[in-house]
Amino acid sequence: MRDLDCVSFLQWALPQLGFRWPGFRKVRRQVCRRIARRLHELELADLEAYRRHLASHPTEWSHLDGLCRVTISRFCRDRGVFQALGKKVLPALAERARAVGESRVRVWSAGCGAGEEIYSVALVWHQTVPEVESGLELELVGTDIDDHQLERARRATYPESCLRELPPEWLDESFTQEPSGEWRLDVDWRRGVRFDHQDIRTQSPSGLFHLILCRNLAFTYFAEEVQRQVLSRLVTRLAPSGALVIGSHESLPAGEWGLVAWDDAPSVVSKISD
Ligand SMILES: C[S@@+](CC[C@H](N)C(=O)[O-])C[C@H]1O[C@@H](n2cnc3c(N)ncnc32)[C@H](O)[C@@H]1O
Repeated sequence: MRDLDCVSFLQWALPQLGFRWPGFRKVRRQVCRRIARRLHELELADLEAYRRHLASHPTEWSHLDGLCRVTISRFCRDRGVFQALGKKVLPALAERARAVGESRVRVWSAGCGAGEEIYSVALVWHQTVPEVESGLELELVGTDIDDHQLERARRATYPESCLRELPPEWLDESFTQEPSGEWRLDVDWRRGVRFDHQDIRTQSPSGLFHLILCRNLAFTYFAEEVQRQVLSRLVTRLAPSGALVIGSHESLPAGEWGLVAWDDAPSVVSKISD
């Protein structure tokens, strides 16, 4: 399949699925490879034939939706963000939780991949918060639409390439190398973590969260209207003064969302409390 043909197919198909083409520009090759495999499975000659197939088989659109998932992640991706979480955001959230008599801090990673992001928060919390605050439980919820990702998240075993942004001493303290060469996160760091299958476009876990991470998903790949729907859901789930973290190359759709930038914490906004 020629790149040019795949690009023109994606520019036609993505908006119909509620996605935006610019988000896919750099990662299109992996999506195009999957579409090429799908054509082979369906014994279709080319993308023109696939367009006709989509027109006559409407359920194929949800299959195509699945082919458009980008699943790249790693521990402490964008290290500066995790440094700010450790130094500023998590201690402040812990302090506020205690000030209002709460016994736990709740964290939601929306589009959690194979758990790299939520486990990074757990590691940062255990490295930083116990020193400034104690007696608070950490509850972590990771949600993702992809069952394979969720299975990997529960296994918590990773290739070295996913761990390259972690401080080396954390790797020694928190992971055990398996005979396969992969690294398994020790059970102590997985306590309090739950993973659920959810589509962020229509679902969210119940209750309020002190910290929500929604990075490298909605605000990169989704069309503006869908971004607004997702952001509205995230804001609803955010506790007063809670923090929302987005990807370092992302911005939020314009509007009055009741959010303000968190001082000295890149990519973090805070919910204005009433
Ligand atoms: C690029 S990864 C980002 C992982 C992590 N948040 C990070 O920034 O490293 C995007 C993740 O979102 C998941 N995803 C895609 N569409 C989704 C949806 N509609 N609802 C929930 N998760 C979704 C994918 O399966 C994938 O694991």
